[in-house]
Amino acid sequence: MDKFKIIGPSKISGEVSISGSKNAALPILASTLLFDKPVVIENLPRVRDIDTMLNLLKSLGSKIQFSKNKKTVKIYKTKKYKYFGSYSILKTMRAGILILGPLVSKYHKSICSFPGGCVLNGNSGRPVNLHLNALKKMGMKYEIKKGYIHAKSNGKLKGATIKFPKISVGATEQLIMSAVLAEGRTLIKHAAIEPEIKDLTNFLKSAGANIKWIGKRTCQIIGVNSLNQTTYSVMGDRIETGTFCVAATLAKGNLIIKNFNPKIIQTELNLLKKVGAKIKIFQSKIHIKGPQKIKNINNITTKEYNGFPTDLQPQFMVLLCKANGASSITENIFQGRFIHVMELQRLGAKIKIKNNTAIIEGNSNLSGTEVMSSDLRASAALVLAGIAAKGETIVSRIYHLDRGYEKIENKLKKIGVKIKRISL
Ligand code: UD1
Repeated sequence: MDKFKIIGPSKISGEVSISGSKNAALPILASTLLFDKPVVIENLPRVRDIDTMLNLLKSLGSKIQFSKNKKTVKIYKTKKYKYFGSYSILKTMRAGILILGPLVSKYHKSICSFPGGCVLNGNSGRPVNLHLNALKKMGMKYEIKKGYIHAKSNGKLKGATIKFPKISVGATEQLIMSAVLAEGRTLIKHAAIEPEIKDLTNFLKSAGANIKWIGKRTCQIIGVNSLNQTTYSVMGDRIETGTFCVAATLAKGNLIIKNFNPKIIQTELNLLKKVGAKIKIFQSKIHIKGPQKIKNINNITTKEYNGFPTDLQPQFMVLLCKANGASSITENIFQGRFIHVMELQRLGAKIKIKNNTAIIEGNSNLSGTEVMSSDLRASAALVLAGIAAKGETIVSRIYHLDRGYEKIENKLKKIGVKIKRISL
């Protein structure tokens, strides 16, 4: 298992280029199951979750042809198609469940394992009830046997009006994909509107899908018979962008972040301005300068888009450890998403948890030690803490980080961070 060795505190300056969005690419790749014709996807991030999704597609019978830099793939369908999403692949990644709707929509059957992924929700696990209930309304029948969802439909799925009781990114994506080839009109109310979902609908529209956003959280899909050949470039990763913005702010840095549309992270940029960062935005880049003193902020709460994203909560927590007073962050999306706190405390952070709120004391003198990653975004937070901490920080179990950040150590090295991957 690889580790990172980081010597801090680091100075940060220069330019960094943002990779394609993992969370946009995953549903886009799953939706290639709906096509008969080849599809070309560009700007794929080379991260482990993408490999997992490509392996899943291969196991189902798709042929994957990579470009030289492996960031573009052409995906073909073979005639012999399988409908089985195996536990051995799905156990590592929650987004694997996104093959269920497309398989049932296209082939009217699927046997799909319950997914795995980051453990973020305490005892509640990572449920898929919203996915299953909504697909049921479209005519999917299913049974659960030995950890597998055995699903089928009597011919095409049927358009339906579905109002989600709770906003869910994955369930919204599942339904959009399932409705594209369904019979008639599907109306999804109380839908998630994350930029990655808009990227999915733009991709499907580029192939002839009939999708329209009506009002803020309602999406209308009118089924079409088939999708056309298309080439699509995945949007930039807003969580990677946010992580580098935090790194620059934390390290009194001077950083240009390229290949990303800053307009979609206004909430995060406004918070960074509040803590004192100087930010200039351009069409596809951000110039950020960290302050000499970081100001504290109270009452940050994680929310669905366009609120503050839960996927940047651990990284912002590290930033607030260095603020000049107490701050608080309330986690509203995933109950268990404070596992990183214990590891940050090992580095000297003073954080107290009260229900779903973290009180961060600020003015912490972080000093390097050994810490362990517990999930994808927690690992990013530990790397940031290592950048701010004095001395040597060893971050173990970075396979979590490799799921979602493309060669982060190379990008960080280029902008001045003393970081080394230790492969055992
Ligand atoms: C996606 C993102 C993840 C991000 C999360 C919230 C991907 C691959 N992952 O995850 O990085 O942290 O959105 O922005 O895009 N829920 C249910 N029943 C369900 C589904 C979800 O109760 O059937 C709950 C979840 O437990 C959670 C909340 O709804 O408390 C939001 O989850 P959801 O938006 O579905 O997250 P994911 O799509 O899994």
